[in-house]
Amino acid sequence: MPKSSKKKYEPGLAQLKYKVEPDWNIEEAKELYLSANHAVGQDTIRYCDCIKNMKNMPDESVDLIIADPPFGIDFSGLESQYNRKSENVVDGYIEIDGSYDNFSKKWIQELFHIMKPESSAYLVSGWTNLRSILNAIEDTDLVLINHLIWKYQFGVFTKNKYVSAHYHILFVVKDEKSYFFNKYIYYPEDVWDIPREYHPGLKKNGTKLPEKLVNRMIQFSSKPGDLVFDPFMGNATTAICAKGLYRHFYGFELNEKMKDIHEMNLKAIKLGEFYEPLNAKLPSDEELVVKYPNLKKYVDKKTE
Ligand SMILES: C[S@@+](CC[C@H](N)C(=O)[O-])C[C@H]1O[C@@H](n2cnc3c(N)ncnc32)[C@H](O)[C@@H]1O
Repeated sequence: MPKSSKKKYEPGLAQLKYKVEPDWNIEEAKELYLSANHAVGQDTIRYCDCIKNMKNMPDESVDLIIADPPFGIDFSGLESQYNRKSENVVDGYIEIDGSYDNFSKKWIQELFHIMKPESSAYLVSGWTNLRSILNAIEDTDLVLINHLIWKYQFGVFTKNKYVSAHYHILFVVKDEKSYFFNKYIYYPEDVWDIPREYHPGLKKNGTKLPEKLVNRMIQFSSKPGDLVFDPFMGNATTAICAKGLYRHFYGFELNEKMKDIHEMNLKAIKLGEFYEPLNAKLPSDEELVVKYPNLKKYVDKKTE
């Protein structure tokens, strides 16, 4: 009988050999940031309605979109639960007027024209409005690539139903053949277990996304120097993460009362503060050997 040419499967070996490509050291990332020149006012937040103003943005002007719209439920952003002191919550979180279906259609239909062919967008939604967001996506030429779940802790206590402890994040692209995706986690699952952040004493409106979550979207779906756009800036989390990762930002926020806080928070963050080359984030050989002891012979060979 002829011998099988198939090699024996070695658990973890593909991961041991895995390298992220492309990747940039700190100097390269900084240089890309400094030499970028985008068609819209880079590193600006404008205090106005995103629906009206996205129409006037140049075609193919942004590299990545992170959009976390108002919820469309009676949420004022002033809630004092979760141990939040109301003096640290900025009022005027602005809810939508009218039907959530219409609102979703209006802003989602503006995304396609501002996206470059390699661009993608992450649209955050609670489960109650998911239908409106999915229908609005369906009415565009955007392609839905993944339906991510963000699992968080501290859902609001309930008596007669399950505690809601997740959000939906729809990962959509303009062109499924050419979108940029930099797989810096070997096995990136579509459920993201990321705790909400608790910042005692920090002024904010009540809906801040965790920086870890936004950083993940930025690192998977953009390069240093790229322009990250957010139509609903809220606490400017997208802007803060972009600056911390050597990306530029642009976006809108209807609530002008957030302006001083945006400026203060952006000043407090150093350019490139969160940046680390992507290959440095992969598990070390030693960590992989703990998980897959069969890899020891390969690691020993590497160091011989
Ligand atoms: C869910 S919050 C965004 C939170 C943000 N992702 C963060 O991490 O802080 C939605 C924000 O959209 C703003 N907003 C509501 N309607 C808007 C509109 N038409 N244009 C721009 N901003 C709007 C609200 O004032 C609110 O700050």
